[in-house]
Amino acid sequence: MRRRLRLRRDASLTLLLSTALGLLLYAQRDGAAPTTSSPHARGRAAPRPTLGPRTFQLPDVGAAPPAYEEDTPAPPTPTGSFDFVSYLRAKDQRRFPLLINQPHKCRGDGTPGAQPDLLIAVKSVAADFERRQAVRQTWGAEGRVQGSLIRRVFLLGVPKGTGTDGTVTMGVGIRTHWHDLLRAESRAYEDILLWAFDDTFFNLTLKEIHFLAWASAFCPDVRFVFKGDADVFVHVGNLLEFLALRDPGQDLLAGDVIVQARPIRARTSKYYIPEAVYGLPAYPAYAGGGGFVLSGATLRRLASACAQVELFPIDDVFLGMCLQRLRLTPEPHPAFRTFGISQPSAAPHLRTFDPCFYRELVVVHGLSAADIWLMWHLLHGPQGLACAHSQPVAAGPFKWDS
Ligand SMILES: *[C@@H]1O[C@H](CO)[C@@H](O)[C@H](O)[C@H]1NC(C)=O
Repeated sequence: MRRRLRLRRDASLTLLLSTALGLLLYAQRDGAAPTTSSPHARGRAAPRPTLGPRTFQLPDVGAAPPAYEEDTPAPPTPTGSFDFVSYLRAKDQRRFPLLINQPHKCRGDGTPGAQPDLLIAVKSVAADFERRQAVRQTWGAEGRVQGSLIRRVFLLGVPKGTGTDGTVTMGVGIRTHWHDLLRAESRAYEDILLWAFDDTFFNLTLKEIHFLAWASAFCPDVRFVFKGDADVFVHVGNLLEFLALRDPGQDLLAGDVIVQARPIRARTSKYYIPEAVYGLPAYPAYAGGGGFVLSGATLRRLASACAQVELFPIDDVFLGMCLQRLRLTPEPHPAFRTFGISQPSAAPHLRTFDPCFYRELVVVHGLSAADIWLMWHLLHGPQGLACAHSQPVAAGPFKWDS
C-alpha cells in the first residue's frame, strides 16, 4: 500500500515536473519568438521575391524547406513601410561624393603592371567592424592565394541612426564620431570606401552603381571581381579554381541565379514593389546579392549600363536589369549558396557540422563573425584535412565549368 502510494506520488511528481518543463519550454519559445535571430525565423519573416523555377536544383540540405536568409544583418534593414513617393522623387540624384577612397588599391603588389587577379568587394555598414575584422583575417585576406593576387575593399555609406519608429536619433556629433572611426580604420587597413549617401537597405542600389563606377575607374585592369555581403563565407581557393578556366576579357557574371522571380505585391513585405514602380510580372534573371563573381570585361560594361538604368530599390534585381540591358544572362553556379541554406551550427550542434560540405562550396550565406572564423579554421585546420568525402556531400555531381 505504502509502496503503491509512493509510486503514485512519484508518478504525479514526474507529471508535475514534465508539465512545468513543458510550460517553461513553451514560454521560452514564445518569449524568444519575436526577437529571435535564428536565420530560419528571420528567413520566414522576410521572404524574398517569390522564386519561380530555378535553373538548377538546390540540393536537399536537411528536412526544413529552404528559407531565405536575410541579406545583411541589423543595420541597413528598413524600418516601417517604404516611402516610394520620396524614393521616386529623389532617385534622379544618384551621384554622391566619395568620402574615403583607396586610390592605390589596384596598383598591384609593387611589380610594374601587376594588377590584382581578384578584387573582393564586401558590402558593409559602419557598425559592423567585427565582421569586417573576421573577413579581413579569413577569406578576405589580401595577398597571393594559389599564385593569384587578391585585393579587398569594404563598401560603406554614411551610417544613419534610426529608432524603431523610423525617426532619426543619431545627431551630428555621432555622425562625426563614425566618420573619425572609419578614417582610422581606413588608415589601418586601407580597405574602406565610404560614399556620402545614407547607408540604408534601399540605398544598396546606390552602393552598387558607385562601386561599379569606382572599380572601373580605379581598377580598370582587374581580372575578376567578387562582390558580396559581409555575412558570407567564400572559399577563395574554389573560386580561383573556377576562375582559372575563364577569360577576364569575356563576359561573365556567375552566382546564385534567380529566374522568373515575381515582384512582391504585399504591402507588409520588406520587398514590396507597387505595380507603378515595376509593372511586369517577373524580374529579369539576377544573381543573389549575397555573393557573385564577374569578369573585368563585364565590370566595365555594367558600370556604363547601370548608369543608364533607373534606380530600383532592390540592388540585386537592379543589377539584373543592367544585365538585361546588355543582353547578358547571369550564369547559375551551384556552389554559390546565397539562398536557402542553414548557417553552420554553433557550438552546441558541432556534432552535426560537416566541414566537408563547405569544402565543395564557393559562397555560403548568413554567417556571424564567429561562424566565419569557425569555417575558416575548420577548412584550414587538421579536421579539414581529415575530410573523407571526395564527392560533394550535398551538391550532387558537380563540375566547376558547369
Ligand atoms: C539614400 O541616401 C540619400 C542621401 O543620403 C538620402 O537622402 C535618401 O533618403 C536615402 N534613401 C533611402 C531610400 O534610404
